[in-house]
Amino acid sequence: MTVEIQRRKDEHIRICLHEKVQASQIKNGLEKYEFVHCCLPELDYKEIDISTTFLGHKLKTPLLISSMTGGTENGELINKRLAITAQKYGLAMGIGSGRVIIEKPEIAHTFKVRPLAPDILLFANLGAVQLNYGYSWRECLSLVEILEADALILHLNPLQECIQQEGDTNFKHLLPKIGRVCEKLPIPVIVKEVGNGISVEMAEKLLGVGVAAIDVAGAGGTSWAMVESKRATNPLQKALGETFANWGIPTADCVAAIASKYPDIPLIASGGIRNGLEAAKLLALGADLVGFAYPFLKAAMTSMEALEGLVELLLAEIKTVLFCTGNKDISSLQNSSSLRLVSSPTSQG
Ligand SMILES: Cc1cc2nc3c(=O)[nH]c(=O)nc-3n(C[C@H](O)[C@H](O)[C@H](O)COP(=O)(O)O)c2cc1C
Repeated sequence: MTVEIQRRKDEHIRICLHEKVQASQIKNGLEKYEFVHCCLPELDYKEIDISTTFLGHKLKTPLLISSMTGGTENGELINKRLAITAQKYGLAMGIGSGRVIIEKPEIAHTFKVRPLAPDILLFANLGAVQLNYGYSWRECLSLVEILEADALILHLNPLQECIQQEGDTNFKHLLPKIGRVCEKLPIPVIVKEVGNGISVEMAEKLLGVGVAAIDVAGAGGTSWAMVESKRATNPLQKALGETFANWGIPTADCVAAIASKYPDIPLIASGGIRNGLEAAKLLALGADLVGFAYPFLKAAMTSMEALEGLVELLLAEIKTVLFCTGNKDISSLQNSSSLRLVSSPTSQG
């Protein structure tokens, strides 16, 4: 089984990089918003401050490298490059699902980035559905301890599991089990999706059992229905994945709904975010951190220089938004009316 999980992880990387698995019809929802330009910011660009605080940790930037990989040689190289970059620029980082660490502890080194990134906000990751397949809070705790993580992400991926031939599809009674993990772990538990979004109703249920933060991981970017469709050898699973390629709640819709109902919960926006202008829109909508998976995967597979170039561009884009909307820092942006909904071409017509 563990060899199978490791092979799957390498296939995911190859497919994400080389096959058409980015959402094509469904968008991240940010096209519905635009910033109001400020012609006289009354600010010195050099003093723009993009630092923030998340789950009690101070961060130099509001950016997160979303959970991706580990378990193989390729995964180890990617994790190392990402961790060095996160440490250098003060990004938060998630590591890929650690199920394989529990099942094969000798490969834990491919996930262990703490020595390279002693100061970052680091998230361990596990599929919540594993709580129905023999896992309990004890495995969650040992994962967090092995990785020296600051928080645990439990991911929810029902659509992906449906498309996987070997998918774990028993999601019954998971909510109280997630609650039990929240209760027993000495660190915060975050719940994320993997690209299909979290509705405000589901966020309410998750917060109700003690989840400390939500990462919406909405639709508009990497489609896990398509990734699993590309992996499938069985024609039914292949076709099923294609049917659901554009399934999910756009990222901006999740963030707008959750942030307006729960303005004070720590909220991560991710799923199909491809530049700092989009990240800034999500911060203005009420997100505290913005996560990116595919852009960091692509850069990490290229070089350290590509990764640094990506981060520097993202930071410059966010600072430029702050400057050109007259906001000196993120909380000023979040409390401003700098972002507005634009009417769609159909409603204008
Ligand atoms: C190669 C790859 C592996 C991933 N593995 C995981 C994982 O182990 N756990 C998880 O929660 N999400 C995983 N994801 C999902 C991402 O964290 C993210 O939610 C999703 O890709 C949407 O973000 P994006 O559009 O920026 O890629 C993975 C993504 C990629 C690209």
